[in-house]
Amino acid sequence: MTDSSVASVPVEKLADHVGQTVQLRGWLYNRRSSGKLHFLQVRDGTGIVQAVAFKGDLEPELFESLGHVPQESAMRIVGEVREDKRSPLGVEVGVHQAEVLSESEPFPITKKEHSTGFLMERRHLWIRSRKQHATLRIRARVMKAIRDFLDDRGFLAVDSPIFTPNACEGTTSLFEVDYFDDKAYLTQSGQLYAEASAMAFGNVYCFGPTFRAEKSKTRRHLTEFWMVEPEMAFADLNEVMGVIEDMVCYIVQCCLKDRALELQVLERDVEKLQAIQKPFVRMSYNECVEFFQQKGHPFEWGGDFGSPDETFLAEQHDRPILVHRYPADVKAFYAKRDPEDDKLSLSVDCLAPEGYGEIVGGGERATDLQFLLDQIEHHKLPQEAFEWYLDLRRYGTVTHSGFGLGVERVTAWICGSQHLRECIPYPRMLYRIYP
Ligand code: 4AD
Ligand code: MG
Repeated sequence: MTDSSVASVPVEKLADHVGQTVQLRGWLYNRRSSGKLHFLQVRDGTGIVQAVAFKGDLEPELFESLGHVPQESAMRIVGEVREDKRSPLGVEVGVHQAEVLSESEPFPITKKEHSTGFLMERRHLWIRSRKQHATLRIRARVMKAIRDFLDDRGFLAVDSPIFTPNACEGTTSLFEVDYFDDKAYLTQSGQLYAEASAMAFGNVYCFGPTFRAEKSKTRRHLTEFWMVEPEMAFADLNEVMGVIEDMVCYIVQCCLKDRALELQVLERDVEKLQAIQKPFVRMSYNECVEFFQQKGHPFEWGGDFGSPDETFLAEQHDRPILVHRYPADVKAFYAKRDPEDDKLSLSVDCLAPEGYGEIVGGGERATDLQFLLDQIEHHKLPQEAFEWYLDLRRYGTVTHSGFGLGVERVTAWICGSQHLRECIPYPRMLYRIYP
């Protein structure tokens, strides 16, 4: 039995306890043995540490049994924290006592290669693996950075609802649900409500899950993803581009500072992240199209950028690009028109470097009541469901702008992940709703 009165210390904090005897509670991740020694890799949720069991220090039965504990068995270990220069944590634990709290059945995920399908079926177990674990810890840091950034700048958190009577981003990707005797939709974006909140509170943000019935099976689309949507009263397109730039830089800095170990586990080239500095490249859609033509990249004016177009642009720069003034036809009904060219909208997308594509979409909102009424008709949207939104143009409307930043897109870019499915704990996709 272990002495449970010894203070238990999380793995990520062990380096503060060198020379002390501590209790470690976790699961056996891996083991290597050589004669008189068992090297137990123990994970506790905050990290993985090597616990070294030396034959000479332990009861013979205990030492023998530690050679057979199956992977993922829950354990309690009491031992001394020792400096270890070779460990990324800088420490290891010399085992004094150990106790198996629950012995695991043979764990399905082993060191051998598994197919993605096999791992996705076992996502609830896969998240214990080193790389998945590192990715999700980075995701959490991204989310904290977002909140800190906005809270510190005086943005008020005002949540938008998830059940909604109306479409925000077009009607093709709506999830319809029964709402008692009526129909409702799962929100595609909290923006329309964030606009109402901005007229009540000034600078606001909503932050939550959003839903899109994306029928396409791509690496960059989830049907459920998290988005933060800041909205600012009195701000124009230029101001909102400045906020996007500052926020993206801040998120990257926080991850570099507080998730260095995780980035190392993911073998991320951090130099590429260190290069993320202001100012970002700013190009209008028209300039992008001109650039494509100069370089012989096939693209026709008027269409939205596809993944190859975004990658082609991103390859030219080592920092994100703010593409502004897309054709109005490829943007949603609420986008304000460019006063200099009515075919264009005052919109902006932020494209991440290294081919990670669009991480932010936003812009200035239309303020003219009649224009919005025409747009609602043009997009064949039901006006009744938007009356509340139109009220915002009736009662003291002002210039306002905002954007949406996709948490998993940003996480994928920071982690260097090839697929969004690894950047959310339990991904929902076209053919995936289990576990
Ligand atoms: O560009 P989107 O569609 O913009 C909006 O929803 C606006 N209403 C936001 C606003 O202005 N308040 O989506 C914004 C971001 C994208 O740039 C991308 O990062 C992410 O949301 N995103 C997705 N992430 C994962 N899976 C999907 N299917 C996504 N669709 C959009
Ligand atoms: Mg977009």
